[in-house]
Amino acid sequence: MKILVLGSAAGGGFPQWNCNCPACRRARAGDPAARPRTQSSIAVTAGEGGWLLLNASPDLRGQINANPALHPQSGLRSSPLDAVISTNADIDHVSGLLSLREAQPLAVYATPRVQRVLAGNSVFRVLDPALVPRREMVLDTPFRPRSADGRELGLTVEAFAVPGKVALYLEDEAAGPNFGSVAEDTVALKITDDRSGTFFFYAPGCAALPGWLADRFRGAPLVLFDGTTWTDDEMPRLGAGAKTAARMGHISMSGPEGSIAAFAGLGVARKCFIHINNTNPVLLDDSAERREAEAAGWEITFDGMEIVL
Ligand code: MLT
Ligand code: MN
Ligand code: ZN
Repeated sequence: MKILVLGSAAGGGFPQWNCNCPACRRARAGDPAARPRTQSSIAVTAGEGGWLLLNASPDLRGQINANPALHPQSGLRSSPLDAVISTNADIDHVSGLLSLREAQPLAVYATPRVQRVLAGNSVFRVLDPALVPRREMVLDTPFRPRSADGRELGLTVEAFAVPGKVALYLEDEAAGPNFGSVAEDTVALKITDDRSGTFFFYAPGCAALPGWLADRFRGAPLVLFDGTTWTDDEMPRLGAGAKTAARMGHISMSGPEGSIAAFAGLGVARKCFIHINNTNPVLLDDSAERREAEAAGWEITFDGMEIVL
């Protein structure tokens, strides 16, 4: 099984279009220690058959162009992308679907909750329903994703709810705790290669690591995990916004309640941060925070990174 990191940054990317923070300025200036990153997406293949896209970011067109494995391989019009899964309805994870128009067959998987969001936005009808079936993922129920015409990809996927929050644009103050979020709003995926049995977890959005979730990850060959912020309050502290990571539905890396501490001792063979916000100092190759994360056994993903399992 091969995994391609198409976009390692959180929503907004790095540099973010309107951010003038020192890190974004370094990225814009071409500083080699501040490598630009596009928005949250990976692709996976079992080796034979096509690719499964996990999240469709607004940068998808450029991401496909930057990765030859995802270029058309035959005929006048074709794509090795057979199916897409969105793990939530956030802009960084669904808006790239709009770049997959042009009459190309493709299957779109998401929880019923996220499918309802897509169905409720008529702009997504540019994906011709006759060519682009939308299929519901049932939580905690492993399934084999298939192309639009029913071909299996050699992969098994299980979606399970993780702590999180409904998409920003659906927050409803009146809907009760956590803005009316329900379990299906944020899922993590377990992806298994049917032939070898090896697997990995993909959790680009996750607000906390309770014991049951830590147990789920224990001993895994690979986890790609929410790396949005280093500290919970880094955005307000930088003056980059009022919201903490927790308020945005993300766990921070550092601190006693952070992900680095929570994963210590779980025996995960390869731990990789993904969905990294432009305010997070681990993006900078020469930062103390980068050294600290790496010393704790974490890798910081980058665009174009390939992982073979
Ligand atoms: C998030 O991950 O918190 C969202 O992508 C934020 C956003 O919608 O910009
Ligand atoms: Mn996001
Ligand atoms: Zn910035």
